[in-house]
Amino acid sequence: MKAIEYLKYGAPDVLHLNEMTRPAPKSDEVLIRVYASTVTAADIMMRTGKPFIGRFYTGLKGPKRTILGFEFAGEVVEAGSAVKLFQTGDKVFGGTTKLGCYAEYVCVNENDVLTTMPDNITYAEAAPVNGSAITVMNFLKGLGNIQKNQKVLIHGASGGLGTYAIQIAKHFGAEVTGVCSTGNVALVKSLGADFVIDYNLEDFTKNGLQYDIIFDTVGKKSFSECKSTLTKNGVYLSAVIDFSLFIQIIRTSLFNGKKARSSATGMLPVKERLKYFIELKELLRTAKIKTVIDTTYPLSKVAEAHSYVEKGHKKGSIIISV
Ligand SMILES: NC(=O)c1ccc[n+]([C@@H]2O[C@H](COP(=O)([O-])OP(=O)(O)OC[C@H]3O[C@@H](n4cnc5c(N)ncnc54)[C@H](OP(=O)(O)O)[C@@H]3O)[C@@H](O)[C@H]2O)c1
Repeated sequence: MKAIEYLKYGAPDVLHLNEMTRPAPKSDEVLIRVYASTVTAADIMMRTGKPFIGRFYTGLKGPKRTILGFEFAGEVVEAGSAVKLFQTGDKVFGGTTKLGCYAEYVCVNENDVLTTMPDNITYAEAAPVNGSAITVMNFLKGLGNIQKNQKVLIHGASGGLGTYAIQIAKHFGAEVTGVCSTGNVALVKSLGADFVIDYNLEDFTKNGLQYDIIFDTVGKKSFSECKSTLTKNGVYLSAVIDFSLFIQIIRTSLFNGKKARSSATGMLPVKERLKYFIELKELLRTAKIKTVIDTTYPLSKVAEAHSYVEKGHKKGSIIISV
């Protein structure tokens, strides 16, 4: 099968299109013909081996798993002897922490974050749901306990997390403000935001307005900067965790009032991620949310896709068409 392999950490040119052996499913796995995968910030971290701490998972000297890609949408072409939940021909989507999705075939345990696709979406629209949309559910619902009529601000509203966050916050009945650059204002409005702030023209932390939840999907505004913009018991959520946020999370957990929170969604138990995933599947099926796609690249152009994602200004998701 064709696959994108990388044997060392580095720039996008470490990614090479190779002919590799097609994997064989174990008894509790399904073999999936991959039709779509994605490029996210997580793939960039795994390709570069940065930050270094991540190498304790990916391999200290070089990558232990040489095919990247953790999200997929495709079709089951073989089911292991003990598989009960899926059968050949099922159109499925999901994610695997074992990676290997930049390839024509991948094996996934039937009890991983895997489910059948709703009929009304394409493989490309299905592939990014596992990483970005589950993260948004974990943050807004799990950590933020989002409620109807709350005022919610999404910072980085045009990105992979942001485009789902606007729609999911609206689904929960919040009054939603999106923050993005000038060129993305129309996109964020079209996703249902009640208000859009162009960060080139206005600093949301200095306009006197307050929010019950501030979700900084891109980690560009700290808890300290946002504190006066939070209501009395408001919650600051950041998808990007660093040492100073870690300290704020601990400090604010000890007192009543404004809170700072974060989480590594990919490290949640499969059961918890799957619960969010099934909820998202229903939102997709009923067209309550949709996937925003910036660009689709063929498998042979994965390196180009990585270079684009690294620039930090993609709109929604980047798809790899396999
Ligand atoms: N903790 C977790 O569980 C978890 C899970 C998944 C992802 N993440 C992390 O979440 C982060 C975001 O992921 P993503 O896929 O949403 O990223 P992304 O799609 O690459 O984000 C791109 C967006 O960020 C916006 N942006 C860039 N600079 C900005 C600034 N200074 N102010 C406001 N917006 C800005 C861009 O909008 P403009 O072009 O308009 O500037 C662009 O639309 C990544 O760092 C990723 O590692 C965390």
